[in-house]
Parts: sequence; structure tokens; C-alpha cells
Amino acid sequence: MIDEPDVRPTTPAEAADVRAMHAANGAAWDEAAERYEGWLAEAIELIRAGGSNLFEEEEALLGDLRGRCHRAIHLQCAGGRDSLSLWRLGAHEVIGIDLSARMIDLAERLTAATGAPARWIQADVLDTPVDLDGTADLVYTGRGSLLWLQDLDAWAAVVSRLLVPGGRLVLFEGHPFEWLVDGDADGHWALTDYDYFAGPEASRGWSPGFIDHLSIPDAEQHWKFSRAWTLGEVVTAVAGAGLRIERLVESPRDWWSGHGDILADERGRLPLSFGLVATRP
Ligand SMILES: C[S@@+](CC[C@H](N)C(=O)[O-])C[C@H]1O[C@@H](n2cnc3c(N)ncnc32)[C@H](O)[C@@H]1O
Repeated sequence: MIDEPDVRPTTPAEAADVRAMHAANGAAWDEAAERYEGWLAEAIELIRAGGSNLFEEEEALLGDLRGRCHRAIHLQCAGGRDSLSLWRLGAHEVIGIDLSARMIDLAERLTAATGAPARWIQADVLDTPVDLDGTADLVYTGRGSLLWLQDLDAWAAVVSRLLVPGGRLVLFEGHPFEWLVDGDADGHWALTDYDYFAGPEASRGWSPGFIDHLSIPDAEQHWKFSRAWTLGEVVTAVAGAGLRIERLVESPRDWWSGHGDILADERGRLPLSFGLVATRP
């Protein structure tokens, strides 16, 4: 077993094939869904109790959804816990899209246990069915989503086509700066050797602070492809799809609890996440 993911640069052939990288990510996430299955009981309890899994930063961006959001579409919904949090915040109905069949199965089990008005679709986000076009008052996504996508302009075009005129994209995502820093042995921030502008990298195995080891040995898992889209790339893709950017906020929120080893007085001074709100004119 290895303790940290095995990471290597993508080959030129891999980097040229967006769809193949997405398919590999779907297979890797099917494996990682094992971890989410262990969280299902907790998710059912939370949603049944009327709770939300979203951070206060996200709720501030979303605002009160009661009476102003008929349909929320959650892209890359995983097991549906964050999606159904949107329902708890007032969305009338929720549709979740995810590439992993095992994640969609989990979301269905969460719906069955909670009676939530939700529908789940297994698809690459780039293939989100066109019959949903122009139907979403809210497209919500983030928290570890964009890094798995390899064509951000195509993603932004999907977001734009899903929204009703006046509808909003709310994105809350890991900050690309986070890829450049990690804790040293004494709990201080230190630079990693990540190349901010390098594009996709391939990895196998998962961070101990997140998915960690699975029942499939790390070396037998699927390779997966991720990248830190720069803030400039994200904003440019959203604007390029014809959406009007309303807010871009940066935050020290350790959104995946990946930096618990940082000394208390060192936390809070670096941007680890960001939120973006954009509307379809
Ligand atoms: C970290 S999760 C997203 C955050 C989620 N809110 C959660 O509960 O953790 C990433 C999800 O993106 C999905 N995914 C990755 N690439 C995708 C793609 N191209 N299309 C649709 N879903 C994708 C994975 O299957 C996985 O469920």
C-alpha cells in the first residue's frame, strides 16, 4: 500500500482525449463511491432532520431558495447529500447529474429513505440531457467537481443552456491556490512542487485526508485525471458562455478538511476555496 496517491504527468495522447479522461474518472469515482456508501446512514439522518450539508459561505451565496427556485440542477452530485441540502434550503425539486453509476445508486437510496422530490441521471456532465435545457432556476456545483473536468468551456456552455433566463449558477469550489501549498512537519504552510499552469495530471490512489485507501489496492485502481483550473480560466469560461458574473469571493474555508495539520494561528490566512455567482441574462 502507498500512503499518498501515485501522481504522474499525463501523456500527450491522454491529454488530447477529454472523453477518455472523463471515462477514466467515472471508473475511479465508481471505486471511490465505496467511501460514500459508508456515509449514507449519516446523510439520511441529516436530510430527514431537515439539515443541510452546505457551508455557511455557500448558503450566503445561495440565499433563501424558498419561493424562488422551482428546479435546482446539481452537476456532479455524487451521493446526493449536497443536492438534497438544496431541497432543504427551499428548492422545490432537485435533479442531480453524475458520471458514477454507484454514486447515482446511492443518491437513489437517499431519495427513497427521505421522500425527497429528486431525480438522478447518470451522465458525463458534458452530456447532460438537452431536455433539461432552459429549466433550471439554479445550477449548483463545486466542492471538488471542476478539477475532474477537462474542458471548462464545454462545461460552462452546459451550465448556460440549462438555466432559465435570469437563472443563477452558484459554484463553490476549491481554490486553485490550494494546490500550491500544504503543511510541513511543524504545521506551517509550505510550497508544494505543483505547477499551477501544467494542466491535467494523472493519479492513482486517494489522499488519506479524504477517500483514503479502498478495498481495491491503490496500485490496482483506475488512473484518474485532475487539474487545478486557474481562477482566470474559470471566470473566462463562465463569461465566455454568456453568463454575467455577479460575485467572486475567496475564502480560507478548508472545504475538504485536507489541512487539519496546519497550526491554528496559520489557518485563515490563505485562500482555500472560492465562490462564484453568475446569472443568465
Ligand atoms: C468530490 S465529488 C463532488 C462533490 C460532492 N458534492 C460531494 O458530495 O463530495 C466529485 C463527483 O464528480 C463526479 N464526476 C467526475 N467527473 C464527472 C463528469 N465528467 N461528469 C459527471 N460527473 C463527474 C464523480 O463521479 C463524483 O461523484
